[in-house]
Parts: sequence; C-alpha cells; structure tokens
Amino acid sequence: MNTNVGPGETRGPVSSGARRVALVSCAEALDVDYDMELVVAASKTAGIDAHVVSWDDPTIDWSSFDMVAIRSTWDYHRRIDEFLRWARSTADVTRLMNPLAIIEWNTDKRYLNDLQNAGFAVVPTIFVEPGRDASGDVRRLLERGDVVVKPSISAGSNDTERHSSFDDVVRHIEGLHDAGRTVMVQPYMSHVDVDDETGLVYMNGVYSHAFAKGPMLASTKTMAGGLYAEERIEPRVADDAQRRLGDAVVAWVSERFGSPLYVRVDLLPTADGPVIIELEMTEPSLYVALADGAADRFAAAMLTC
Ligand SMILES: Nc1ncnc2c1ncn2[C@@H]1O[C@H](COP(=O)(O)OP(=O)(O)O)[C@@H](O)[C@H]1O
Ligand SMILES: [Mg+2]
Repeated sequence: MNTNVGPGETRGPVSSGARRVALVSCAEALDVDYDMELVVAASKTAGIDAHVVSWDDPTIDWSSFDMVAIRSTWDYHRRIDEFLRWARSTADVTRLMNPLAIIEWNTDKRYLNDLQNAGFAVVPTIFVEPGRDASGDVRRLLERGDVVVKPSISAGSNDTERHSSFDDVVRHIEGLHDAGRTVMVQPYMSHVDVDDETGLVYMNGVYSHAFAKGPMLASTKTMAGGLYAEERIEPRVADDAQRRLGDAVVAWVSERFGSPLYVRVDLLPTADGPVIIELEMTEPSLYVALADGAADRFAAAMLTC
C-alpha cells in the first residue's frame, strides 16, 4: 500500500488501521449513481472504511479521511467556482483523487487543445469565447453537415445540442455567451449513429473494461431529473485502435499529472478510426456493473494509487 497520503496522513484516524475513504457524490446523484453500491461493497471487502458523502455537506471534516475519492459530483458544472474552491480546500488537508491539478485541468474541455497539440486524434473543435463571433466557421461547418454546440464546462449532455440551421447555432451560442460561458462548436460525428460511442475505463493507470454508449444527439434528449440525459449503455470489447489510443492518452496524462485513480477515455468513431470526444477524469460513471471484477479493481486501485 502506498502510505504517501499527503497532508492528511497526520490527521487520519490511527485507531482502526482501516483506510478511511470518502466516496464523494452530491445530494441529487445519491440515488442514481449505480456504481456506488458496488464500490462500497467492494471497498468493504478490501478492508476500506468507505463513507458516501456529498461534496457540499458543510458538516464534513475532510481531513478525517485518508483519501477523498470524487465519484458522482454531477452538479459541479452548475457550481464550478464553488466546486473548485471545495477541491482546493480538500486537497489542502487530505489526499484528493483525482488530484487537484487534474480536476482543475479536466473540468474545462479546453484541455482538448492540449491533447490535440500532443498529437492525439480529437473531435475537431472550435472554442468560441464570449464576445467572439464564429459565424464564418459555423457557416463552413454547416456546409458539410450538422453542428454540435456545447459549453466548455459541462457534463451529462447538459446544454449540448445538435443543429442544422445557422440561426439555431447562433442562438445557442449567444445564449451560452450571455451566461459568460465558453462555447465549443464541432461537426456532428455521424458515425456514432451506427457504431456508438466507446468509453474505456482505466483504474490506477491500468485498463479495466469498456462500454458502448448510444448516440445522445440522434434524437431528442430526455433529461433525467436535470442532472444528465438518459443514456443507453452496454458492455463492449474495445478494438485494437481504441485500446492503442486509450492506452497512449492515459500514459500521457499519467506522465503529466501522476497516475490517476480513474480515467475514462470516451471515443467517437470516424471513417479514419477513433477520436477522443472527452477524457473523463473528474466524476465519471465507470459502469462497474458491466464488467466482472471492476468494482474490486476500483477498490484495489484506491489502496495502491
Ligand atoms: N461532435 C459530436 N458529434 C456527435 N455526437 C456528439 C458530439 N458532441 C457530443 N455528442 C453527443 O453528446 C454527448 C455528450 O457530449 P460530451 O461532449 O460527451 O459532453 P458531456 O458528456 O461532458 O456532457 C456525447 O456522449 C455524444 O453522444
Ligand atoms: Mg461525455
């Protein structure tokens, strides 16, 4: 076991010997985080003293945990400043996973620029800051097909829409800009309609399993309680190209930030192979129920990362 637990090591409970871990959710997600029950059970089996808590619960003494593992803080994008303040203050007193530097980097999809600059295949993306006009780019994209507009800080498909008309794109961008948000404009990657999206799950840098996720923008989205759009998720065996891309990008982030507890590499299919739509390193569902042993691997990763 890695005993390098950072500032929290002097404050962690010394009596039980069990590693005391916070599995962090949010009030709205507690009933719909389907990983949580399995992760709690696997943690118990692994001898971890796991506690399910909400990130914004003011009664919690974060320094009482050896590790604070973010799991389903799915409201963070609506409260990003507050969430990052919480992450910073928690990282000051204990071991936050994923580490603060990852959370700060990964909560804004402008990190896709870094991945592109590092040579990874990513969904072609134009970032449009408030006050900037992207009409020319939008017209050019629309000549080739539908366009997706989404905020750079988002999750659960919130505020993410597919458009075929210039006016709809402009209205969507303006609405997000009025709220002070940076906008992403992408071509609609239509191969997803046939082959689905693929998520690859890594725990402590080691590949665990993959899943398929149906296209979210092929038809009208149904939001589940305002937290996330309803999804079709199935087990999937990742192919070689997906694994090569996933392994390479996880190696890159591990080199840059140290080995993360969890990474989900989400890929869209194209005629030329998979491209990264996002790296989920903040609060991803890991769909541990889809793969034998995945919850146990997660518990083991919490002990070794
Ligand atoms: N450029 C795109 N082409 C096709 N589908 C997209 C595109 N961007 C987003 N989507 C769909 O919308 C969903 C949510 O978008 P995503 O970028 O993954 O944001 P998040 O999951 O953080 O809300 C994706 O799972 C995918 O189904
Ligand atoms: Mg996504």
